[in-house]
Amino acid sequence: MAEVLLCLFFVTTFLGFVAGQQTKCSVSVGASLTATPGVTPWLSSSGDFAFGFRQLEGNDNFLLSIWYDKIPDKTIIWYPETNATVSRGSKVELIDQRGLVLTDPQGREVWSTSSSFSDLACGFMNDTGNFVILGNNSGKIWESFSYPADTLLPTQVMEIRGQINSKKNKTNFSRGRFQLRMVTNGNLVLNIRDIFSNFPLNPYYVSGTSDAGNSTNSGYQLSFDATGYMYILRRNGQKYDLTRRDALPSGDYYHRATLDPDGLFTQYYHPKNPTGNASWAVIWSEPKEICFSGDIGSGACGLNNVCSLDGNRPKCECPQGFSLLDSNDPNGDCDHDISPRCDEGYGGDLFDFIELNNTDWSGSDYAHIRPSNEENCKLSCREDCFCAVAIFRDDQCWKKAIPLSHGKKTSEYVKAFLKYQKDERPPQCPPWILKEKDQRSLVLVGSVLLGTCVFVIIVLTGVICLGFFLVYKKKPMNPYASSKAAESNLPRFTYQELVEATNGFKDELGKGAFGIVYKGVIGTNIVAVKKLDRVVEDGEKEFKTEVNVIARTHHKNLVQLLGYCDDGEQRLLVYEYMNNGTLAAFLFKDVKPSWKERSYIGVGIAKGLAYLHEECSTQIIHCDIKPQNILLDDYYNAKISDFGLAKLLLMNQSRTNTGIRGTKGYVAPEWFRNTPVTVKVDVFSYGVLLLEIISCQKSVVFDSDKEDVEVLTDWAWDCYHEGRVDAFVEDDMEGLDDLERVITFVKVGLWCVQENPCLRPTMRKVVQMLEDLEVTDPPCPYPLFGTSI
Ligand SMILES: *[C@@H]1O[C@H](CO)[C@@H](O)[C@H](O)[C@H]1NC(C)=O
Ligand SMILES: *[C@@H]1O[C@H](CO)[C@@H](O)[C@H](O)[C@H]1NC(C)=O
Ligand SMILES: *[C@@H]1O[C@H](CO)[C@@H](O)[C@H](O)[C@H]1NC(C)=O
Ligand SMILES: *[C@@H]1O[C@H](CO)[C@@H](O)[C@H](O)[C@H]1NC(C)=O
Ligand SMILES: *[C@@H]1O[C@H](CO)[C@@H](O)[C@H](O)[C@H]1NC(C)=O
Ligand SMILES: *[C@@H]1O[C@H](CO)[C@@H](O)[C@H](O)[C@H]1NC(C)=O
Ligand SMILES: *[C@@H]1O[C@H](CO)[C@@H](O)[C@H](O)[C@H]1NC(C)=O
Ligand SMILES: *[C@@H]1O[C@H](CO)[C@@H](O)[C@H](O)[C@H]1NC(C)=O
Repeated sequence: MAEVLLCLFFVTTFLGFVAGQQTKCSVSVGASLTATPGVTPWLSSSGDFAFGFRQLEGNDNFLLSIWYDKIPDKTIIWYPETNATVSRGSKVELIDQRGLVLTDPQGREVWSTSSSFSDLACGFMNDTGNFVILGNNSGKIWESFSYPADTLLPTQVMEIRGQINSKKNKTNFSRGRFQLRMVTNGNLVLNIRDIFSNFPLNPYYVSGTSDAGNSTNSGYQLSFDATGYMYILRRNGQKYDLTRRDALPSGDYYHRATLDPDGLFTQYYHPKNPTGNASWAVIWSEPKEICFSGDIGSGACGLNNVCSLDGNRPKCECPQGFSLLDSNDPNGDCDHDISPRCDEGYGGDLFDFIELNNTDWSGSDYAHIRPSNEENCKLSCREDCFCAVAIFRDDQCWKKAIPLSHGKKTSEYVKAFLKYQKDERPPQCPPWILKEKDQRSLVLVGSVLLGTCVFVIIVLTGVICLGFFLVYKKKPMNPYASSKAAESNLPRFTYQELVEATNGFKDELGKGAFGIVYKGVIGTNIVAVKKLDRVVEDGEKEFKTEVNVIARTHHKNLVQLLGYCDDGEQRLLVYEYMNNGTLAAFLFKDVKPSWKERSYIGVGIAKGLAYLHEECSTQIIHCDIKPQNILLDDYYNAKISDFGLAKLLLMNQSRTNTGIRGTKGYVAPEWFRNTPVTVKVDVFSYGVLLLEIISCQKSVVFDSDKEDVEVLTDWAWDCYHEGRVDAFVEDDMEGLDDLERVITFVKVGLWCVQENPCLRPTMRKVVQMLEDLEVTDPPCPYPLFGTSI
């Protein structure tokens, strides 16, 4: 009897125990979740935290993760360190003896908590934000707190050898460059890792809690207590405060400490019952100086990049002459647009310097000359093919090689001489360097046409265009512009005069990026009057400047400006009228125009561009070369139009606008990167145009919603690569008879559309190649196949 009672007692307590566990242990063996939108996650008992799949922005992938479920932005605080991002239909299941197992839609295992648990009972999402798996004896056998991602939560600790890693960026949960580690000597450190070996490089933050000289006193645990107080616990029980106790907000808050993608380790808090637009606020962050110096590693910004502070966050900007390796990663590495080769071809006189005040790279030295002076410092760098930048400070000179590391803006007096190849000089004022304030006050005579229309003019001081005077003397062009020195003597019309000339803007010739063009008559001349829209107020001076720049251009292959009007709000430009319409209309009609005419037009456009780039007193980058902007006169001379209309542009819109891909047919890839824009953008567009002229095919098929927008350049490369250039002109007999020229033109086109701007020839070189029919074999235009731009 007694045994029976005893036995009953045990059975009931055991059952009661199991029941107690099960109400709490809500995820039983065999339970699973499938990655689909709206799938109900496993919630903690209070509902504060959820475990499940989160759909990622902008694609059909899902992230296995834990997040705050009650606050609007549902901040993610945990995800598996590898293979966390999976496609729709993937499944996570709690499997006996295995734990959590994540499989892709094909059933392949991509991640799991462990390979074997002999006594698995159940799992649950705890209210601390910890997902816990319990064994039969109700002990923890796995918890997410032991495998932190980029975030620590209250009640979580990090022991010696523990670490967390930043994620790549806000939306990419792959491992970033930064790490927070509790190292064996008792210090908490922040460091960059070498992404290839995963080896931690020199720290940029050290807590100073090591055992140096006092082993009883070293740190051994990073603790985050339930109230949100974070400290390093020393062996002797003392606490080294990371959170000042008096800095903790009173009230009901969530706390988290996250190693942010930019390298700052930050403690945040957020009201638990948010009213209005509450969001995460910062209690503290480390390091205090994120633009740190050093000699090993890249610094907070990537290699060759330059760091400055935006608040206490790093702001990274590639220096002139460099561009982001990955345009999606502004804090990443910058690539050198030129890299002088150290062979006989190297000549110091091909190079000059951009002078940067208050910029220094503390790493990358290979020569230190003292004493020195500015001139000798520059000279020795110019002659030295390895030297990428010379730093001059305190009568000393440092020569530095690529890659440059730990670039930052300093307040000390430092001069950096950055070497660039002379014909590669980037514009002095790339638009994205303009401050936002400046941008708003800019006069945009033109506008950005869905991100493709972009005009930059570089004013090169002091260069006088001798050619202009010769051309100008030889060729009295028309009654309006020629009889005077072009400077400011371009005829100015009143608005009323132009209303009359165009018969009240009756006869519309076309719509351009900058406004509508009307036909008109002035005296005995037929003219084209362009009525500019979107002219910002206060634009008068800039408008005048632009008009003067345009007025000073005279070339057979440019449309001539005859006069202008800036009457009150009205801005109009008067051009010579072109009888034969646009090249677009000429090229893309049912019957192919003759190859002879086409090749003549191709050379003409190249000459016009070479003139804009190199021969007139003010260098003009057209930035919107396309067949709609080329007009044809009575003799089918190509005439470039719409050049020089605006020297300023709002790139910020087009840079972030992903819709840009659809219209990018003629746009050089560097527009989409944080890269200096040079004349080479025109060379790229010209290359596309040339391929269109050869094939009479449009470069972009706009009505296809597939991604293959650059069909024509791909096709040209395929034909050329396979030795089938004849296929590129299809049934054009005249072209096939002149195959040598066709092949030359295709080669030139392929050189022009090289993704790397430095490989593209100058327009002068293009003209020469087209005329001499001597071209070397172009490489594949897209060396990094598959990388998107
Ligand atoms: C990630 O998943 C792939 C299969 O999709 C697998 O080959 C690879 O080993 C997984 N990586 C890890 C670290 O589990
Ligand atoms: C744990 O329980 C499961 C079933 O609930 C059982 O199959 C397994 O053998 C148990 N393991 C241990 C070590 O008791
Ligand atoms: C679960 O959270 C509670 C507080 O909400 C805590 O007391 C308990 O220790 C946690 N359990 C585990 C296994 O983490
Ligand atoms: C995230 O970043 C990694 C590393 O840079 C990259 O390989 C991966 O393609 C990125 N993932 C997405 C979805 O962009
Ligand atoms: C080591 O730390 C303990 C506790 O803080 C202190 O009493 C002792 O003086 C320290 N010893 C040295 C050598 O600094
Ligand atoms: C929303 O945020 C703004 C600025 O952060 C603040 O001025 C405003 O009071 C907030 N509104 C509410 C309802 O909390
Ligand atoms: C994050 O990186 C991915 C590629 O790795 C990129 O597509 C995305 O735009 C980036 N997101 C942000 C917010 O920078
Ligand atoms: C750099 O500083 C010097 C002297 O302070 C000044 O003359 C020069 O214009 C500055 N250069 C630039 C690019 O700001």
